[in-house]
Amino acid sequence: MKYIDFRSDTVTKPTEAMRAAMASAEVGDDVYGDDPTVNELHDYAAALTGMEAALYVCSGTMGNLVSVMSHCARGEGVLMGTQSHTWKNEAGNVAFLAGVMPYPLDDSSGLPSERSLKSSYQPKGNVHYANTVLLTLENTHNAAGGLPAEAGQFTDIAAAARDMGLKIHVDGARIFNAVAYFGNDVKDYTRYADSIQICLSKGLGAPMGSVVCGTRSFVERARKYRKALGGGQRQTGIAAAAGLIALRDMRGRLADDHKNAAALAEGLTEAGYDVEDTPRRTNMVYFNIGEGDGDAAAFVKKCAERGLLIGVAGAARIRMVTHLGLDENSVDRAIEILKDMSVQRQ
Ligand SMILES: Cc1ncc(COP(=O)(O)O)c(C=O)c1O
Repeated sequence: MKYIDFRSDTVTKPTEAMRAAMASAEVGDDVYGDDPTVNELHDYAAALTGMEAALYVCSGTMGNLVSVMSHCARGEGVLMGTQSHTWKNEAGNVAFLAGVMPYPLDDSSGLPSERSLKSSYQPKGNVHYANTVLLTLENTHNAAGGLPAEAGQFTDIAAAARDMGLKIHVDGARIFNAVAYFGNDVKDYTRYADSIQICLSKGLGAPMGSVVCGTRSFVERARKYRKALGGGQRQTGIAAAAGLIALRDMRGRLADDHKNAAALAEGLTEAGYDVEDTPRRTNMVYFNIGEGDGDAAAFVKKCAERGLLIGVAGAARIRMVTHLGLDENSVDRAIEILKDMSVQRQ
């Protein structure tokens, strides 16, 4: 069966241009810093984000982890939203690999409030607490519906964190979806951050990898942690060549994914699904199924039997993500399949 795959934007396949670039990439040993294609990616990412330096890492998870390790010593604390990917979906690595204490923030509407920051923050000088030194912010926010942060609100919360003496790391797995949504500049966000992690492997279409960006000394520390975690690779230019195309040429296309997601949300609402509303839709659509549909896992299985792949996001919560491998026809077909299921259950 030919499937249409709305599970995630991570299922994208490299484009022809990426495959050609990978085949002809100039390479060297990146652990020695000798891979010219990786170095070009570093320079490009640093210039694009307006930060001093960048580092190619295996995944978004590794990018976030080396960033936390580079900012926090063991026994220190990081403020994280309890709906964030770093908190929920990275295998608890901050606690069990970095030895850093995650402090919870309410980020159910994307950005945490200043109040939430202040209530979780633990200052230096009290033996009872892990000193809080870092705040992580996710943009776009996956669990909050792919919500992009407005630059002004982002600045306000970052300024409050700075006033508290905190460093700021941005999980910008999909930061260019935020940029595509607002038509602004990624520097509107990075200007207030000490580091950012950007996934090349999602809507931008590269087969693997992320870049982390920050100051030169931050990147030096991150390089050491990357090595310690087994992420020092050799002729990585093969993969970085695709990453370079992702970052340089694929940002502009993310607006198509947003258009497709909006059409999908509208079609599913018309078909009677309880689609979660969002003030700013990027490439994600979340909806909740009713009692009669069974649990989300059973619902997803039924969809797969009809050729539609979608994701479980909770006991009764479903996620669909638009991406490079899907067009308007895929959206129409998905709506048709889901409409048909909706009719059958009535
Ligand atoms: C918001 C966010 N951050 C980080 C990651 C981790 O990226 P990776 O799967 O490359 O480890 C993801 C993955 O989906 C994500 O959605």
